[in-house]
Amino acid sequence: MINIRVPATSANLGPGFDSLGIALDLYNKFSFEEISHGLEIIGALDTEEDSDNLVYTSMLKVFDAIGYKPKGIRINIDTDIPVSRGLGSSACCIVAGIMGANKMAGSPLSQEEMFKIATEIEGHPDNIAPALFGGFITSIMEEANIYYNKIDIAKGLKFVAIIPDFPLSTKMAREVLPTNIPYKDAVENVSRVSLLISSLSNGRFDLLKHALKDNLHQPYRGKLIKGFNEVLEKIYEFKALGGYLSGAGPTIMAIINEDDTNFKKEMESYFKSVNYNWKVIELNIDLDGAKVI
Ligand code: HSE
Repeated sequence: MINIRVPATSANLGPGFDSLGIALDLYNKFSFEEISHGLEIIGALDTEEDSDNLVYTSMLKVFDAIGYKPKGIRINIDTDIPVSRGLGSSACCIVAGIMGANKMAGSPLSQEEMFKIATEIEGHPDNIAPALFGGFITSIMEEANIYYNKIDIAKGLKFVAIIPDFPLSTKMAREVLPTNIPYKDAVENVSRVSLLISSLSNGRFDLLKHALKDNLHQPYRGKLIKGFNEVLEKIYEFKALGGYLSGAGPTIMAIINEDDTNFKKEMESYFKSVNYNWKVIELNIDLDGAKVI
């Protein structure tokens, strides 16, 4: 039996659309077994046919690439990462399937080769890279090549996922994005990404609230999320260092001081007062990424 654990990821971090991502200590666990025949998937969403399951279809990409033909496959899925909430649950399933298949076939692929296949499936590397390698990662796609770099973050931060009780499909959240944006908006995003990476690296956390603003996706996607602007205002009222739309949303991620013990309680009592059934989960950075356990 092959057991694999893959972390949740939060992509974009404000201005870093399709480029920045961070792994967090919330996990889905998977086990894989080669059986005598057939396909058995335990723990998948009820709405999904086994043959369409993203873990399984990702395994098939590896088997095709390396020419391995398993007799049959059993997959167990145990999920803590909520689906369609902007916490990288699809990237998690893709990475798990690829690692599981690679391990089943005797590990012929390198991490880099697995990264490439996973990114081809997902279409962009910003969740895949931290899901696979852990930590805070910047990545770019240049024609057929993908380049990435892991960045050390100064100590002292905690992430707080503020998770709505409704999903938002990434497909829909990408459809509302404009084809063109004003030059000035692009220039602002470039400056913010530089400010964000430098302030996370050297601990200038006072700059995060400026660095995390965005012109490329948040203004368009925010409109799809009931309460987005109010919640973003509240997180600053409750002394967050910064906040952004996690991935394609609808989760809003707050970044707070690691010794802040009030933020979560204040958010929860705010949600109670406005009758929103949103969850507030404190998370730390996962530095390991996907691993066989
Ligand atoms: N960068 C992606 C997006 C992450 O914002 O659409 C979600 O897949």
